[in-house]
Amino acid sequence: MRFLTAGESHGPQLTLIIDDVPAGIPLTAADINQDLQRRQVGYGRGGRMQIETDAATITSGVRCGKTTGGPIALTIPNKDFAKWTDIMAPDADPDKARDKRFIRPRPGHADLAGYYKYDLDDLRDALERASARETAARVAAGGIAKALLNGLGIQVASHVTALGPWQLDITQHPNPNTQATWDAWTNTIEGNDCRIAGTQADVDSLHALIDTVRTEGNTLGGTVEVMTTPLPPGLGSYAQWDRKLDGQLAQAVMSVQAVKAVAIGRGDDGATLSGKDFHDPIVPTGNGQLARTRNHAGGLEAGVTNGMPLLLTATMKPIATLRTALPSVNLDTGEAEAAHFERADVTAVPACGVVCEAMVALTLARAVMDTFGRDTLGDIQAAHAHHLARCQPAPTGWN
Ligand SMILES: Cc1cc2nc3c(=O)[nH]c(=O)nc-3n(C[C@H](O)[C@H](O)[C@H](O)COP(=O)(O)O)c2cc1C
Repeated sequence: MRFLTAGESHGPQLTLIIDDVPAGIPLTAADINQDLQRRQVGYGRGGRMQIETDAATITSGVRCGKTTGGPIALTIPNKDFAKWTDIMAPDADPDKARDKRFIRPRPGHADLAGYYKYDLDDLRDALERASARETAARVAAGGIAKALLNGLGIQVASHVTALGPWQLDITQHPNPNTQATWDAWTNTIEGNDCRIAGTQADVDSLHALIDTVRTEGNTLGGTVEVMTTPLPPGLGSYAQWDRKLDGQLAQAVMSVQAVKAVAIGRGDDGATLSGKDFHDPIVPTGNGQLARTRNHAGGLEAGVTNGMPLLLTATMKPIATLRTALPSVNLDTGEAEAAHFERADVTAVPACGVVCEAMVALTLARAVMDTFGRDTLGDIQAAHAHHLARCQPAPTGWN
């Protein structure tokens, strides 16, 4: 299941082509649009999200509500294009575009990198493609991967675990070891615009924090945790470096705009624990099953799933476009000048969680297909059931 995205932030539309999708997966645009809308929410986002109401139009690979086995193509229009046509249309007047060019690179964004790499005369070419607007197409691809995973009873969710100085109280960290606790946990997260599993007081204090930072012309980063329901044991492999699922997940999530660290389980602070306190004891439950007393491994040992839920944390750096602009240079004159500013998010950590979910779902869908087959959902379900029957004693999650 590989995919390509195309499109500029203020161009006419985003385009996705996703190939190697098994046949027979129930799929409608509505399934995809749900996640597109979740990507748009989040306290601290800029005005752009009020303009867009992202919705996908599927143009191939789905018939009568089911995937056909052919490549799926879809588009997501950019409503904002209407205001940018004069400089963003493929046949826009180059003189007009040149009048509006920008040449003061923003530290932390793609501007200077694009200038050196592609010999740009207008840094907008870098901004437009590097922008996280592209993540809408990734989220659409993730929706298709989630539809396959749902066919095996696997669900993927995410929540914000830190935002600037705020950190989730660890006692409120969910352990969704039953469907009821999973549902309660995800309802709490999706029920607030910071996408946290905290209290209303936490949400209020985050709103106040973001408002203050906005007034200062500054921005915030944070961390998100992606969590799944228990995964079938045996996805991934330790037999070769590039088949290790932890490595594949890290690459996929690290590729998300502004993500600068990826940790599996307690991978980020594990160095502070001894082996006795880090590793997850294996406890036979006496009824042909086994449990773990915790999930510090985050569901992966040796790059292979161990039957536990996946826990993956991604760290997002603060947004690079600052209203109180950082020192930069005018690339025409070589003189010191403040960096370019244009409408931006104060923070996008809640949305980043939805994007990371998509990248995790796509990586897991590939691992599922490597293990259980690629042609039809029915074949994959049969192989999955056979595999679970032979995995004895069966892992039951953590308590
Ligand atoms: C959901 C989301 C929204 C983002 N919104 C902005 C934004 O409004 N302004 C900005 O400068 N960067 C934003 N970013 C981050 C930039 O796209 C990113 O920093 C830039 O492409 C450079 O890539 P790098 O940070 O991975 O090095 C956002 C990232 C994500 C995931």
